[in-house]
Amino acid sequence: MKNKIYLIANWKMQLLNSEAGELGLALKHESTRLLTPEGVADGGQVKTLKQKNIELVLCPSFTALSELGKKIPGDSSPDSRRGRNDIAFKLGAQNVFYHEKGAYTGEISPLQLKELGVTYVIIGHSERRTYLNESDTDTNLKIKTCLAHNLTPVLCVGETFDERRFGRTELVLIRQLTRGLEDIKLKNDQKLIIAYEPVWVIGTGQAINPLDAKNAALAIKQTLLDFFTIEEIENKISIIYGGSVDQNNILDFIEPGLLDGALVGTASLTTEKFIPLIETLAEKL
Ligand code: PGA
Repeated sequence: MKNKIYLIANWKMQLLNSEAGELGLALKHESTRLLTPEGVADGGQVKTLKQKNIELVLCPSFTALSELGKKIPGDSSPDSRRGRNDIAFKLGAQNVFYHEKGAYTGEISPLQLKELGVTYVIIGHSERRTYLNESDTDTNLKIKTCLAHNLTPVLCVGETFDERRFGRTELVLIRQLTRGLEDIKLKNDQKLIIAYEPVWVIGTGQAINPLDAKNAALAIKQTLLDFFTIEEIENKISIIYGGSVDQNNILDFIEPGLLDGALVGTASLTTEKFIPLIETLAEKL
C-alpha cells in the first residue's frame, strides 16, 4: 500500500478554545460530505479519504485538545461501517516536554497528551525556535520522548530568508536534521514526519517554488541516509511541505514518495479555506 498523504492543520495560538471546538465540529460535519455519492467520486466509485490513505490531523492549542478530542473522532454508527461517515480527524499537539512527570512548571508531558488522544506532535516549529529559543538539542530530546510514547513526531526544519540568500539552505537542513535526529532509531511501527518549512514564506500567502521544495526534500532524504536504511526511509519516514499552502497550490507540493503532504497554518483556520483544500486533495489524488 502506498504511503499516507498527511494534511496537518497547525492552528498555532490563533483560536479561543470555544472557536477551536466549533471549527472542529464544522470541519467534521462539512467533511462527511466528501464521503457521499455527490462527494469524492473515483471512476464512478465513491472513495473515502481513508481508502485514499489521506490522514487529516488537527493541532489546536493545548487548552483545546480535550474538548476537540471529544468532538472529532469518526462516527461509529452503522453508516460509518459502510464507509460513509467515517471521517476521523486525528489529534495533534504543537509541542511536548521531554520528561514524563515532575517539577517542570508550565510544561506538558507526553503522558498528558496521550491521555487526551493525541497521536501526532509538532516539534521544533520555526516560531518556537525563534521566540522560545528552542534548539536542535531540544528537538532531539522531544523526538525521543514522542517515539518512546508512540506519538508520531512532526519535526519542522527550514531556512530563513538570509540563509537562503547566502546559499546556506542545505547546510541549515543538514544541521537541523543531524542534531535533531542524533541517536534516533525507529522501532517496529514507529513513524517520523519531517516538515520542510522555509521560514520566510510562513504566513505570507506566497509559497515557494514547488521545485525548490522538491530539491529541499531530496536534500533531506540524502541526509536521512546517514541515520536510517533505505527501507526505513521509504516505509517509516514521510517528508511534507509547509509554508502558505492553500487549495490552489496544494497539489504542486504533493509528489508521493518525495513530498507526502502538507503542514497548513492560515488556510486551516476556517472551513471556507480548509474544506476546499481537503476536497482538492481527495479529488485529485
Ligand atoms: P502557513 O503556516 O500555512 O500560514 O504559512 C504554516 C506553518 O507555520 O506551519
